[in-house]
Amino acid sequence: MCGIIGVTARDGNVVPLVLEGLERLEYRGYDSVGVAVNAGGRILVRKASGKLADVRRRLALDSLVGSTAIGHTRWATHGAPNDVNAHPHEDCDGSIALVHNGVIRNYASLREELASRGHRLRSETDTELIAHLIEEGVKAGLPVIEALAGAISRLDGSYALAILVAGEPGRIYFARMRSPLILGFGEGVNAVASDIPALLHLTRRIMTLEDGEFGWISPDRVEIYRLGAGGYERLKAIEVQARVKTVEWTLEKASKGGYPHFMIKEIYEQPQALQDTYNGAVEAPEVSRAARLIVEAPRVYVVGAGTSYHAGLVFSYYLSRLAGVASIPLISSEFKFYESTVGEGDVVVAVSQSGETYDTLEAVRAYKARGAVVIGVTNVVGSALDRLGDLTLYIRAGPEIGVAATKTFTSQVMVLQLLAIRAAEARGALDPSEAREKAGILAAAPQVASEAIRSSEPLAKLLASRGNWRSIYVLGRGLGYPIAKEGALKIKEIAYLHAEAYPAGESKHGPIALVEDGFPVFLVATSDSPEIAGNALEMAARGADVMVLKPSDMELDLKSSERIRILSMPGGGLLLEPYSLTPFFQLLAYYKAVQSGYDPDKPRNLAKTVTVE
Ligand code: AGP
Repeated sequence: MCGIIGVTARDGNVVPLVLEGLERLEYRGYDSVGVAVNAGGRILVRKASGKLADVRRRLALDSLVGSTAIGHTRWATHGAPNDVNAHPHEDCDGSIALVHNGVIRNYASLREELASRGHRLRSETDTELIAHLIEEGVKAGLPVIEALAGAISRLDGSYALAILVAGEPGRIYFARMRSPLILGFGEGVNAVASDIPALLHLTRRIMTLEDGEFGWISPDRVEIYRLGAGGYERLKAIEVQARVKTVEWTLEKASKGGYPHFMIKEIYEQPQALQDTYNGAVEAPEVSRAARLIVEAPRVYVVGAGTSYHAGLVFSYYLSRLAGVASIPLISSEFKFYESTVGEGDVVVAVSQSGETYDTLEAVRAYKARGAVVIGVTNVVGSALDRLGDLTLYIRAGPEIGVAATKTFTSQVMVLQLLAIRAAEARGALDPSEAREKAGILAAAPQVASEAIRSSEPLAKLLASRGNWRSIYVLGRGLGYPIAKEGALKIKEIAYLHAEAYPAGESKHGPIALVEDGFPVFLVATSDSPEIAGNALEMAARGADVMVLKPSDMELDLKSSERIRILSMPGGGLLLEPYSLTPFFQLLAYYKAVQSGYDPDKPRNLAKTVTVE
């Protein structure tokens, strides 16, 4: 996830407008910043790693002048967050500059192809390749719009682009596929950006672009085209006009994308985050490399803290089910008690959103010192885990500001599921076509998450308003257990309500003693464990207020009754159930916190990243 903006004005200097937009886009990424202006047919680029305020001062971005400019704030996905990888990126001779948000899946093959045709590739990014693809069209004599259409038709993945072309000083070209992009129309000034807040200082007249749309803006004009199977067609002016809406947001509301808190915004960002995660990992050679290391290892350890530990549990589950590989999931702070069993060639899969969690890094250092190979799974390129690991798998969820991990959990799960699928393939437990089919199922995860959020929202709001809960159980079996653990953690940390998760089969071994009339029990039913129906009945028989969260396509020998309420979520099978069953608990925790007057973004006693023991 990155933030992009482009502004073109009839007269005056647009650089301050671009910088103000970037300030509001920084929540989308903050590891590097860059601006390019088209100064009368010459493109000037200034960019560096670091946060906006710092880069702005160091590179004197305010001294740039031009009436057409683009800007970018980066959240690294390909290549470390350094000066060279910062956007904008240029073609061979600097006559095209562009900024990009998204992930190009066929990056490796395009890179090889462009390098073999003699292009001078300066960065490690997927973005730069797009500039060179457009360059080829332009140098072949095509109009820029055709060169752009040709370039984007070669891309597999997600992109929102804003592009300057030296020979067309007043224009900004743009294109969108599976990454957000809007246009803003002002008086003698038009703009393109990742989201509405970035443009509110310019205009409130906004149009949202759809996937497959591309075109250009000048200060007084817009042309939009739509990519189709047989080429592309231009949208009629009347259609464009009808799609321009006036937004009423205040700036304060807009800084959180219109949501009152980052947590709820990030919950709603899950479909987009999952799309980016999928694009980045489904064919990534490093996932296959990591899988081979896993199947060849004498032992496999999975370490993580909090939510990342729960994602690790989900991984152990799929690794066992799909690949038949046993692994040892560990809470990071417990690492030393198992250290003596670690040996040469063992693999440690270290899961950490931030890549900076002290206990996880300590575990990694200790196990590495004993000869283990470290596979890091993180959201932060260039983090300590990224640097320490032998191999890193990026989850590409974009920055997460709320203390509660939400979208990073589901994105971690997706990368780890793909890793388990590749491990199954490497081990011969799945043949290549079965592995392709399983990975293909995950393409539906964004849609499933989106439907799950929609279905959960009213239920979570309603249940959150029941103010008399003092303690609750969240139970699951199989895959449902780690999902239940993650749900209980959300409820504890955000709503300050005691929530305990345990495998549902454990009830009769002790915990059911607490159950009395009205005791709330949530059951996470996953399609691997229909026997959870029995757990629902035994709880209801003791007076519990039972709520069973289940995928709609799962057969369960259970009916709704006075004591048992069935909450139906989208189906799709075992691989999609983490996306179907997780959002409900995130939303329940969120609404419970808000209704109790707590700040869900900054829960008491907690920090986003725990860098101490
Ligand atoms: C989850 O909502 C928490 N913020 C916390 O449990 C978190 O997952 C844990 O501290 C690990 O963080 P990491 O993923 O950055 O390593």
